[in-house]
Amino acid sequence: MQRDAGLAPDSYMVHSVLTACAGAGSLLLGVYTHALLLRELGGDGDGKAVSRDVLINNSLVDLYGKCRAVDLARQVFDRMPKRDITSWNLMILTLANHGCVRESVDLFDRMTRVESVVPNATTFVAILSACNHGGMVEEDRRYFERMVSEYGIRPRIEHYGCMVDILARAGFIEEALDVVSGMNCRPDAIIWRSLLDACCKQNAGSELSEAMAKMALDVPDDAVSGVYVLLSRVYASAQRWNDVGMVLRLMSEEGLKKEPGFSSIEMDGLVHQFVAGDTSHPRSEDIYMKLDEIDQRLASSGYKPDLSEARMVAGMDHTKRAALRLHSERLSHIVWLAQGDSWGTHSDSEEPESMQRLPHYQQAHIRAV
Ligand SMILES: *[C@@H]1O[C@H](CO)[C@@H](O)[C@H](O)[C@H]1NC(C)=O
Ligand SMILES: *[C@@H]1O[C@H](CO)[C@@H](O)[C@H](O)[C@H]1NC(C)=O
Repeated sequence: MQRDAGLAPDSYMVHSVLTACAGAGSLLLGVYTHALLLRELGGDGDGKAVSRDVLINNSLVDLYGKCRAVDLARQVFDRMPKRDITSWNLMILTLANHGCVRESVDLFDRMTRVESVVPNATTFVAILSACNHGGMVEEDRRYFERMVSEYGIRPRIEHYGCMVDILARAGFIEEALDVVSGMNCRPDAIIWRSLLDACCKQNAGSELSEAMAKMALDVPDDAVSGVYVLLSRVYASAQRWNDVGMVLRLMSEEGLKKEPGFSSIEMDGLVHQFVAGDTSHPRSEDIYMKLDEIDQRLASSGYKPDLSEARMVAGMDHTKRAALRLHSERLSHIVWLAQGDSWGTHSDSEEPESMQRLPHYQQAHIRAV
């Protein structure tokens, strides 16, 4: 923000800065902006102050949520003198996205029952995905029902998507298909993919899986490679190697590659980004050394990485295994660990699975700010 130009930052400018910080996942910049804001914009009591404050505080909730600082988001939310529907929606969604399922549901109840705020379609996307995170099939059914009958909201594709996903993953594939056939809009590829995915995982038979894959491929969508990957997994588990080969050939003919996933993390005000197997980071060597050390520790405590999702054909090749090991998210976690070398202090109490989440380190980060 330009502080010397004699311009007082207005709320929309602040809002854009915060949104930009949220987009970059830059917590430090966001905290700085927040501090600046508290100093320069401190409640001056004009008529616009209230809506302005709500807008800015909403973007703070959003920012902290996107930076995984869910406690800070909650703090801002709890202290807001006034909230609008967006505040509620953002907070419920932030909690849902961080697996704080109970809190998310509680907040929804407080919103609707205590504060009598009328939820809208977005609120239900948030609460349905919270239940989805928590594997709460029964609750998901109830919220969906309430949305339609109590609030008269016409379900949209996102709501159906949530329902289908949770039902299918819980093994209610028939019921998920019923939801699909009752939809008031055309199912998208994501819906077919989550059905296909569930069919794969539950060995629902290649006939049903093929039907799902066909439906998914019929929908124009630029992410068809996911469908091929799933389909080849179906064939692989049915030991239909010729079909596996056919799918792989189709993929290469159509020039499809799995999109590279990337992870980012902020340290000392810099946003570090990694793709799997990345070596472009300036401290790459240190990072990989740390990774080796961690792998050794994990191996010695009996941890074996779950590679079952990684490859559909039986004999997994060496490069794939290596790339998995260097999964981008792990790389960005290493930056954490290398910093302050907090690994040694936590490792003894950690379950190996927590490699995926590392809640302790995230909390340490938030406290450090
Ligand atoms: C945001 O919420 C705080 C309370 O935490 C309140 O004092 C302030 O007026 C609101 N607005 C801004 C811009 O911080
Ligand atoms: C619901 O609220 C959100 C704010 O979180 C808003 O963006 C959206 O447009 C609203 N949806 C409807 C259908 O009113």
